[in-house]
Amino acid sequence: EPGSQLQGKKVVVTAGPTREPMDPVRYFTNRSSGKMGFALAEAAAAAGAEAVLVAGPSSLETPVGVRRVDVTTAEEMLQAVLEEMEEADVIIKAAAVADYRPAEVKGSKIKKADDRLQVELVKTPDIAAEVGRRKGRRLLVGFAAETDQVETYARDKLQRKNMDMIVANDVSEPGAGFEGDTNIVTVFDKHGEVLRLPQLSKREVARRLIRLVGERLDERS
Ligand code: PMT
Repeated sequence: EPGSQLQGKKVVVTAGPTREPMDPVRYFTNRSSGKMGFALAEAAAAAGAEAVLVAGPSSLETPVGVRRVDVTTAEEMLQAVLEEMEEADVIIKAAAVADYRPAEVKGSKIKKADDRLQVELVKTPDIAAEVGRRKGRRLLVGFAAETDQVETYARDKLQRKNMDMIVANDVSEPGAGFEGDTNIVTVFDKHGEVLRLPQLSKREVARRLIRLVGERLDERS
């Protein structure tokens, strides 16, 4: 029956960038509008799931039927995901998490002085890898934003982070990746390619990915 494919399932989706402060007025971030992840949460809700969207800063409206948890930094996103994953069946990581943050966050605005400014960065937690370590029977779907050797890097991430599937998008390709309304994706699991989609709206990509997730859950039960 359409719209009931994920009935009784809880799906947690991360979306958007994270923002890592340097001082009260400046931060490091990644390019991401949140569109891909918001569309996934919307599609999960439309398929009957309890859909939770853990969202970094984004100006998008919360999709109908979705519970949204707003976060700012990678650390906050990790905490929110760990909390929400307890009861989850599926975790989809479409967020563009900042890989590094300033080592020190100044309490007051850094004054403009020298021509060069050195900022020391430290690694943020790898949320997908952390979820991968604790996932148990949950289905973990990651994304990979690459500019070259898309398949090689995507399959490497799948394995390293213990994901069940990875959705690769070549962010150097027009019509794919961040900010626009369309995407071009290929999905891999540990055996190889499972789905290759042409350029489609992010909402349509999301519907097809959610359908694939539903099929994977059915195969398991
Ligand atoms: O938001 P839009 O404008 O619609 O753009 C969509 C998108 C291009 C951001 C999205 O489709 C996408 O590819 N998201 C993942 C971007 C990314 O950061 O990829 P990555 O290759 O750096 O990371 C691989 C995976 O690990 C991702 O699932 C990411 O969420 C996760 N990760 C990465 C770093 C980190 N510290 N923690 C993580 O969980």
